[in-house]
Amino acid sequence: MSKIILTGDRPTGRLHIGHYVGSLRRRVELQNSGEFDKIYIMIADAQALTDNSDNPDKIRENIVEVALDYMSAGIDPEKSTILIQSMIPELTELTFYYANLVTTARLERNPTIKSELQMREFGSSIPVGFYTYPISQAADITAFKATTVPAGEDQMPMVEQTQEIVQRFNYIYGETLVTPHILLPSNQACLRLPGTDGKAKMSKSLGNCIYLSEEPDDMRKKIMSMYTDPEHLRVEDPGHLEGNTVFTYLDAFCKDDHFAEFLPEYNNLDELKEHYTRGGLGDVKVKKLLNNIIQAELAPIREKRQMLQKDIPYVYEVLKKGSEEAREVAARTLDEVKAAMKINYFDNDALIQASIAKYSN
Ligand code: TRP
Repeated sequence: MSKIILTGDRPTGRLHIGHYVGSLRRRVELQNSGEFDKIYIMIADAQALTDNSDNPDKIRENIVEVALDYMSAGIDPEKSTILIQSMIPELTELTFYYANLVTTARLERNPTIKSELQMREFGSSIPVGFYTYPISQAADITAFKATTVPAGEDQMPMVEQTQEIVQRFNYIYGETLVTPHILLPSNQACLRLPGTDGKAKMSKSLGNCIYLSEEPDDMRKKIMSMYTDPEHLRVEDPGHLEGNTVFTYLDAFCKDDHFAEFLPEYNNLDELKEHYTRGGLGDVKVKKLLNNIIQAELAPIREKRQMLQKDIPYVYEVLKKGSEEAREVAARTLDEVKAAMKINYFDNDALIQASIAKYSN
């Protein structure tokens, strides 16, 4: 069986380094590993509209921002297909049929939906489209027969929901759809990178993000004022690693050879951590190291972005071509789905013959 990746993001803002370590960096590695037969990366504008219906301009603008982030981080349109969700109307049709296989009680139990509802303070005015987006996400994944969904932990309930829909569909209508699996980040720190203020998640509304395209100076300022250990007041004090954002970021970004380059007194992160917990290592030194590492990793991405920004028509061309190619694939799956559901009345000679026979005596 082919190995196929589908993953994506909502275009609600520029991508930040949480997106980068949580999924984008991995996608680029998977793309370049050559292990996958097809890779689809979706800009999920229709999903973004489920809770932004009053702000279409925001979604529209951010489609290009996200595409720029993808391509500057190393997503190569020659190797991966970047597509815009709304340009594939077949997805909506799949969603409509899958909706019959999911109960409202099941949607209510979805932990991601639960926490998103809480964050958005919808109260009792939940848009139906938002409430049912897990079904539409199942359409996204199955339309491309994806086997693998590289994504953050928060997408687990969506993939589980998809697995259930696939199972139920195949059970009722016969083996048609492919069961996908989530591919989580391998490193704990990358699962959910906290905001620079130490709060649970990076989010634009909390103002605690470092963007992928952040200017070097702003990036340094944000890193130098990051949350660390509030009890680590003097350099000689023993420091704590748990909940210490700077160390969580180091876990996500640091490799052993960074030490030779930026801080040769230590061989690796374990030695640095040991010194910090023992006492005698100041926060500023650790933050400087982190700044050097992140700047080094993001500089080529920023440069690539600046180049791409000079050729916006090319970016649109990539999105258009990718969406067209993806649409053909989704249309084939939709045909199979409808045939399995017996929704093929006019291209089915056996059906016409059976009707003729029924009324001929
Ligand atoms: N729900 C994802 C997010 O919030 C975006 C998304 C839409 C997605 N469709 C997808 C992710 C399919 C993985 C697979 O970022």
